[in-house]
This record gives sequence, C-alpha cells and structure tokens, in this order.
Amino acid sequence: MSLFDLTGKVAIVTGSSRGIGRAIAEQMAVQGAKVVISSRKAEACQEVVDAINARHGAGTAIAVAANISSKDDLQRLVDETNRAFGKIDVLVCNAASNPYYGPMSGVSDDQFRKVLDNNVISNHWLIQMVAPQMIDRKDGSIIIVSSIGGLRGSPTIGVYNISKAADFQLARNLAVEFGPHNVRVNCIAPGLIKTDFARALWEDPERYKQSTQGAPLRRIGEPIEIAGAAVFLASAASTFMTGQAMVVDGGVTI
Ligand SMILES: NC(=O)c1ccc[n+]([C@@H]2O[C@H](COP(=O)([O-])OP(=O)(O)OC[C@H]3O[C@@H](n4cnc5c(N)ncnc54)[C@H](OP(=O)(O)O)[C@@H]3O)[C@@H](O)[C@H]2O)c1
Repeated sequence: MSLFDLTGKVAIVTGSSRGIGRAIAEQMAVQGAKVVISSRKAEACQEVVDAINARHGAGTAIAVAANISSKDDLQRLVDETNRAFGKIDVLVCNAASNPYYGPMSGVSDDQFRKVLDNNVISNHWLIQMVAPQMIDRKDGSIIIVSSIGGLRGSPTIGVYNISKAADFQLARNLAVEFGPHNVRVNCIAPGLIKTDFARALWEDPERYKQSTQGAPLRRIGEPIEIAGAAVFLASAASTFMTGQAMVVDGGVTI
C-alpha cells in the first residue's frame, strides 16, 4: 500500500472552490479520499464537485457552502459532512481573508478584527467542532494553510502576517493537546502561489520580477505544488509529524 493512500478517508477542505484549496481537494480525491468542497458560493463549489465526481465516480465529492466567519455555517459544514460520509478524518483549514494592504498605522480596528476572526478564530471554531470525533477514534489529521508571511515582517501585509503567525502557534498548542489521542495538527506555509488571492503580486510583470528575482527557483508556485504537502500531512506518510510548519516556497525564506 502507498504511504500516501487516502482510501476510506473523509476530508473537509475550506476555500476549495478554486486556488490552493481546490488543488488540495482534487489531489486528495486522486488518492482515494471522499472530499467536501466548501466556500461561500454554492455554485462554484458544485462545479468542482462535478469535475471530481466525473473523474473519480459519483459520491466522491459533495458541496457544502459555508462562510468561515459564521459559526452556524461551520457547524452545518461539519453536520452535513457527518450526514453524507459518516465521519471526518482530515480537516484542511484553508480559506482566509486579507482585506487590508498597508502599514500597521493604517489598519482600522474592524479590519484587524476581521483578519484575526477569519484567519485564526474561525480555524479554532472549526477544529473544535471536528476534533472530538477524531479524539474518540484516536485518528485524525488537521492541516492549517498558513503562509511564509507568518515567518517574516512586512510593511504592507503585516496584519495578515500576524494572523498567519498565530496559525503556527494554534497548530503547536493543539498538537500538544491532541497528540496523546493520535490527532495531528500541522501547518503548510506556502510562498507566493499563482491564485486570485495573490493576483496583485504576480499579474504585473514588474511585480512578478520583484517577487521572484531573489527566489532560488526563480518563479512563483502553482496550486498543485501545495497539494502534495497536504496529501503528505493527511496520510500515513506523516504519522510521526505534528505541530510543524511545512514551508513550500521555492526557497524564498532560506
Ligand atoms: N496565493 C498565495 O500566494 C498564498 C501564499 C501563502 C498562503 N496562502 C494561503 O492559501 C490559502 C488559500 O488561498 P488561495 O491563494 O488559494 O486563494 P483563492 O484562490 O483566492 O481561493 C480562496 C478560496 O477561499 C474561499 N473563501 C474566501 N473567503 C471565504 C470565506 N469568508 N468563507 C469561506 N470561503 C472563503 C474562496 O471562495 P469564495 O470566494 O466562493 O468564498 C476560494 O475558494 C489562504 O489561507 C491564503 O492565506 C496563499
């Protein structure tokens, strides 16, 4: 059996209607997992579900629309997953927000709170909803998609970076709490990836050059290049790894 096989596993991936989350859900389905596609827009999620089911068979994927800023939505996401698939083995907290660009001096309290709510507190909510069943079964993998921003200072995305640094600490705390129950919690820290989220940083050729000239691989990443890390962290390939941040950034932070 492959160490990366996910046959029989059920995975929720937030923010999986496009970008990194979609690539993660697709690659987990390739490895045999049942996947739950979620974002704010039901229609966009259904398109991804249809593509996955066409490739891997009806019933491989379902769509559950949920806004990560709503506790009720997240509870419904968990309840509908349990109803459809009976359990949750893998949780990928991938969706996040970055509504403010600029120095710390310019951020409003509401903007700062929104970033912390969506990128940290909502992950905490969802994890607390899913962890009890993982703890009961003594098996589970929780993955938070953080960012290399959480490892660095920034004059422009500093607020977002604070939230991503908090995600590293959330994973460490929960890894300590859940470790005795064989539930693992890890982060992925992507560098710049070609998605809508980071469009401003790669679409303009001048910005692209700035973003990549110091990068050892001299390019930005594709969503699928993050998916492998998520499959690894979800699978038997990583059963001795918990509390860590896996940097996947083309070498930028070295
Ligand atoms: N791209 C990069 O360079 C980069 C680098 C480091 C880390 N990251 C991290 O990677 C993760 C995914 O980003 P991405 O680049 O793949 O972004 P993306 O392509 O813009 O996709 C974001 C996904 O999240 C969903 N989403 C956004 N707000 C949501 C909300 N409030 N509730 C539920 N779903 C929501 C979006 O769908 P809807 O709009 O339909 O809700 C979409 O499915 C984020 O945590 C981001 O911080 C990205």
